[in-house]
Amino acid sequence: MKSVVDILDLSVSEVDELLDTAMDIIENPAKYAEVCRGKKLATLFFEPSTRTRLSFEAAMYELGGNVIGFSSASSTSASKGESVADTAKVISCYADIIAMRHPKEGAPFVASKNASIPVINAGDGGHHHPTQTLADLLTIKREKGHFSGLTVGFCGDLKFGRTVHSLITALCRYENINFVMISPDELKLPGYVKNEIPQGRGFTYTETTDLEAVMPTLDILYMTRVQQERFTDIDEYLRLRDAYILNPEKLATAKKDMIILHPLPRVNEISVAVDADPRACYFKQVQNGKYMRMALILKLLNDVKCGKTEDKEQGDVYLYDFKCDNPRCITTTEQELRQVFRVVSPENRICRCVYCDTKKNY
Ligand code: NCD
Repeated sequence: MKSVVDILDLSVSEVDELLDTAMDIIENPAKYAEVCRGKKLATLFFEPSTRTRLSFEAAMYELGGNVIGFSSASSTSASKGESVADTAKVISCYADIIAMRHPKEGAPFVASKNASIPVINAGDGGHHHPTQTLADLLTIKREKGHFSGLTVGFCGDLKFGRTVHSLITALCRYENINFVMISPDELKLPGYVKNEIPQGRGFTYTETTDLEAVMPTLDILYMTRVQQERFTDIDEYLRLRDAYILNPEKLATAKKDMIILHPLPRVNEISVAVDADPRACYFKQVQNGKYMRMALILKLLNDVKCGKTEDKEQGDVYLYDFKCDNPRCITTTEQELRQVFRVVSPENRICRCVYCDTKKNY
């Protein structure tokens, strides 16, 4: 059973295939209007969402399918103490595919290991958000025509911004990309994402706190919201939340064909005056998100029909004796979930939690 928990669960050719399907859906919507007739999508949203949940629902309806689900953990058996594993087993009896959002990092991975239907990660804590990445990739493809050879600036909360983590991971599979990371020191990109950026193949990586200094170099500016809900110290959030506010004046030195992306919701990091600028593409991103989710649902249900199974990883070494130190990891709340670490660097004795990617020395 193939699930999509991390964008790397899709190969580059599968991403290309999804981009092609989405383009075909845009051009020929009637062709797809009945393709999921009789199928049910379960939207299990344990954390607030407007566009991701409604985008999944709209996607399934436009494919002719139906939707069941919930939009808050308080109305579910999770509030009675049910595990993610049990919820996944139960929902597998009612639906054909699951889209899950959860505050704990690794929860959709646990669901995918226990469900008998495909699971799509719709955002897990500050970890991954692969379907937002699919929306971002379609927007970049439609606006810029290609992924390689671009200078991409990510600005704001790069520590907790899961959409940033998944998009960087996806772009690392192309070549000649200059990443420019613009954030306060406290909100820098986590090591587990930074380490994925290739040393060769034309990749460069720069960190700065100064948005205006790098503005003229950028082909894409990906703005993000400071993720209030992931802070343990509210004073730190209040100190950092206004670090970057994009306005028309700051865009004066930007390239004429630069595009501005933002996964939304925006708080105040892009002033409303920027919306009228032709470079502002964040509402197009929302539209593209629905097409890519349609393409993904269709692909995963077709894979089930064709009996395709998950590609098993070969040769990995696992360790079971450590405890994950990340307070947002699903292992801190899920009953009887075995701690598992994958050895990623035997020479440096480094392993990573298979659920949330937190690094540990052994
Ligand atoms: C993002 C998310 O949930 O991570 N929103 C989205 O899915 N479009 C970004 C955010 O919440 O800031």
